[in-house]
Amino acid sequence: MNSATPLHLGPNTSDIAQAANVLGNGGLVILPTETVYGLGADASNGTAVAQVFAAKGRPNFNPLIAHVSDIEMAKTIALFDPLSEKLVEAFWPGPLSLVLPLAPNAAISELATAGLKTVALRMPDHPVVQAVLKELGKPIAAPSANISGRLSPTAADHIDPKLLSKVDAIADGGPCGVGLESTIVMIRDGNPYLLREGGVSREALEDALQITLVAETAADKPTSPGQLLAHYAPKTKLQRNVPNKSADVIHIGFGNMPCDLNLSESGDVIEAAANLFGYLHKADRLAQKNHADTITVAPIPMCGIGRAINDRLLRAARE
Ligand code: TXA
Ligand code: MG
Repeated sequence: MNSATPLHLGPNTSDIAQAANVLGNGGLVILPTETVYGLGADASNGTAVAQVFAAKGRPNFNPLIAHVSDIEMAKTIALFDPLSEKLVEAFWPGPLSLVLPLAPNAAISELATAGLKTVALRMPDHPVVQAVLKELGKPIAAPSANISGRLSPTAADHIDPKLLSKVDAIADGGPCGVGLESTIVMIRDGNPYLLREGGVSREALEDALQITLVAETAADKPTSPGQLLAHYAPKTKLQRNVPNKSADVIHIGFGNMPCDLNLSESGDVIEAAANLFGYLHKADRLAQKNHADTITVAPIPMCGIGRAINDRLLRAARE
């Protein structure tokens, strides 16, 4: 998020290389896909992913979709079973995102998955984003390229100037063919759950799988990202807005202060967001090791992405 005027790139080879280069250096690039334009960052770079949330002004950390160039790349970050393989064969590349178990040691930032043990991924069917993915050689995390709560853009000139001022480059790939976000299917314990309707219809999914998709009302179906996020909260009790470390607790600090883990010594909310989920996991492990029954977290300013951090801490505290 360095420049007020982003680079305008097209589909030619040198522009593709430039887009991949910007992403590889931690920058943000708006990319065309067949569904809607995405606000892309290197999915393995926590700071870049934090900047995606900051640029969108998202009040919470919804997990992001990781875009992959091919099935080999997909298998470095997620575990596939026969059902997900079947869906890949039928619908990839295309507007179907699959939520699958995260592969061990997947090179993906915990902020991109919002600390979950699953990851949403899809292989987009658009030559520009495909070429950038191949050049970068790594998954790209990309939510729709709109300010939070607004419509997803389906052409480069729909993109909000406020968002444009916060990115490094935009690749113009013309209007999006599908014009509607991807369908999201979660595979859990060998069963498919439809989390979001989109570019691939329910009928097409049912045809391909020769089954009826689990009804939306099933008691165990995670119906919203909010509910999903509740799946990961530290096991240890967590208290927010605690200014100082006391004995027998694991204290997560912010700014220059005594603590066990510091989200950002310099008080930078972007750095804090990039560290958040990893540090919650670490604090949990430390608490277990040191027999501490509480994790405390220093106050985080309610500005910019700080709001999303506070939202996440509120859920983690189960207040
Ligand atoms: O077509 C699309 O899907 C576009 C283009 C850019 O690819 N992207 C998009 O991203 O719509 P976004 O962030 O606006 O929506 C992604 C949604 C999240 O809101 C969340 O509900 C879901 O994907 N999601 C991501 N990871 C998940 C996970 N691990 N479990 C459940 N849902 C997840
Ligand atoms: Mg969106």
